[in-house]
Amino acid sequence: MDIRQHWQTVYEGRDTSTVSWFQPHLTSSLTEIGWAIATQGLRPESARVLDVGGGASTLADDLLELRYQQISVLDVAQSALSVSQRRLGDRGQSVQWICDDLLHCDRLPEDVHLWHDRAVFHFLCDVEMRAAYLGAVRRTLTVGGHLILYTFGPQGPERCSGLPAMRYDSASLASVFGEEFVLLRDRLETHPTPAGAHQQFLMVHLRRTK
Ligand SMILES: C[S@@+](CC[C@H](N)C(=O)[O-])C[C@H]1O[C@@H](n2cnc3c(N)ncnc32)[C@H](O)[C@@H]1O
Repeated sequence: MDIRQHWQTVYEGRDTSTVSWFQPHLTSSLTEIGWAIATQGLRPESARVLDVGGGASTLADDLLELRYQQISVLDVAQSALSVSQRRLGDRGQSVQWICDDLLHCDRLPEDVHLWHDRAVFHFLCDVEMRAAYLGAVRRTLTVGGHLILYTFGPQGPERCSGLPAMRYDSASLASVFGEEFVLLRDRLETHPTPAGAHQQFLMVHLRRTK
């Protein structure tokens, strides 16, 4: 499976408001990010935020509105990033856009205070992929930084976008990240898809301790 081609095709020529994971605004993420940054004693202007697998979501738009100035968005599909870039126009010029496979990326920003992932990690179905993800987090997230992950919950779907997906509860997800990370908050959420289905998501919010 060529993951880059897969995701490139998913977004090509498609109205991104019809994909199953679409939300007009990632309101839950924005709440968690705000809390994470305040908890670290930072202001939005000085916080370095990385959204991995950011796709075409409006998270960067909303963070810019909230005066975040150091935002990086990484995605393997340029077709997804282009949607966000076109939508933001000149406002998007301060965002660092990285088109790459997260698991093999040597252009990750450093000393990031906040790592955000909505609906990427659950596609990593083998242990080597999860180890590569953890390696990327270690290279990127500063000690004391926060990791916010949204995956499918225990009652979530087993497939998404034609790919198999993992389902997690909070203990099993936190255990992937091990003792370097402490679990601060977790919550199950129901995501209404544009097609009218309901998907269970799990949010975990971790802090890197060493
Ligand atoms: C289900 S979508 C979620 C998009 C976005 N986070 C949102 O909430 O709207 C998953 C995204 O992860 C990206 N992705 C999947 N695997 C990736 C990888 N290995 N490296 C970088 N991006 C990846 C896909 O291109 C897609 O945009």
